[in-house]
Amino acid sequence: MRILRALMKYSNPKIEYYSKFSPSPLSIKQFLDFGRDNACEKTSYMFLRKELPVRLANTMREVNLLPDNLLSQPSVRLVQKWYMQSFVELLDYENRKPEDPHALNDFLELLIEIRNRHNDVVPTMAQGVIEYKEKFGFDPFTSSNTQYFLDRFYTNRISFRMLINQHTLLFGNDTNPAHPKHFGSIDPNCNVADVVRDAYDTAKMLCEKYYMAAPELKIEEFNSEAPGKPIQAVYVPSHLFHMLFELFKNSMRATVELHENSNRGLPPVKAKVTLGNEDLSIKISDRGGGVALRKIDRLFNYMYSTAPTPTLEQGAVPLAGFGYGLPISRLYARYFQGDLKLYSMEGVETNASAAPSI
Ligand SMILES: Nc1ncnc2c1ncn2[C@@H]1O[C@H](COP(=O)(O)OP(=O)(O)OP(=O)(O)O)[C@@H](O)[C@H]1O
Ligand SMILES: [Mg+2]
Repeated sequence: MRILRALMKYSNPKIEYYSKFSPSPLSIKQFLDFGRDNACEKTSYMFLRKELPVRLANTMREVNLLPDNLLSQPSVRLVQKWYMQSFVELLDYENRKPEDPHALNDFLELLIEIRNRHNDVVPTMAQGVIEYKEKFGFDPFTSSNTQYFLDRFYTNRISFRMLINQHTLLFGNDTNPAHPKHFGSIDPNCNVADVVRDAYDTAKMLCEKYYMAAPELKIEEFNSEAPGKPIQAVYVPSHLFHMLFELFKNSMRATVELHENSNRGLPPVKAKVTLGNEDLSIKISDRGGGVALRKIDRLFNYMYSTAPTPTLEQGAVPLAGFGYGLPISRLYARYFQGDLKLYSMEGVETNASAAPSI
């Protein structure tokens, strides 16, 4: 706690200063254009050494507006400490010229360190919300406040990581040799059905480990732009994977829990990928019993989950955990102007449609 206070004292005027600037939002096209046109590491350095502190400072100011009872939970304080530390470390580069022989390399290493430090922000923040709920119970006012805050907080995190990943992938040694045609984390020809299959396979492994069985996948593609051709899009495959993996885990859990003891076996989970003039859409459908309309909104609430609460120490990825699968996936879909929606026919089925937007 003493370290946190010392850090805050030193960096308070700097937080003030940087939070006066608005973050510069970047579109997927801007990311792609920068990656494509012989990306220049110095330009990226000059941009990020200001943009990253601006984003962290803005986020930290918002964190400070949280209700005191939530802010004082140990896990929330831990997250705050990570943000503060990363902010202070980035300030070292405020006046370091890119010509300084080690500046670019040191900066790149720092970005990797920061990315690793922030790896567990989502489950740790979730833990903070649980700590709060255990002590103070659930009240609708805090819940809607927290919902608003966390949606912004996690969106900021997605874009912060996107900026870091683009820099480290374009200029570092961690370029992925399996994907030489990617521009940083962007695949200009992302084969959507391949990502669907990948996400299904990963969720299936988890499901089989947990339930000893998993539903089959049936996949259909409709490409209205180029009939018969596989659907491709300019997208960040890891974002797409994240959304689909979460949807498959939910569909599999619902399917197995409803049909486990049926002698007719498990109904398959269906995926439909479509491309129109404007939209790329993906629909995941299951016969897992659905959710009542009255409860649908709650599923996107960070303070709600029907699965038993996991603890951070459990380590292994459970099939259902903090109840963050849907809300975070929706943020990924919205990040590039898409959306994610759930339609259920209660008692029978759920259709989740993700329109990641292209
Ligand atoms: N396809 C589905 N069929 C039936 N219920 C669903 C379906 N998808 C989601 N749900 C319900 O919505 C709840 C919230 O889903 P969400 O993915 O956000 O969290 P979770 O699965 O509980 O935990 P995790 O954070 O691990 O995803 C689930 O617990 C489940 O009750
Ligand atoms: Mg889930």
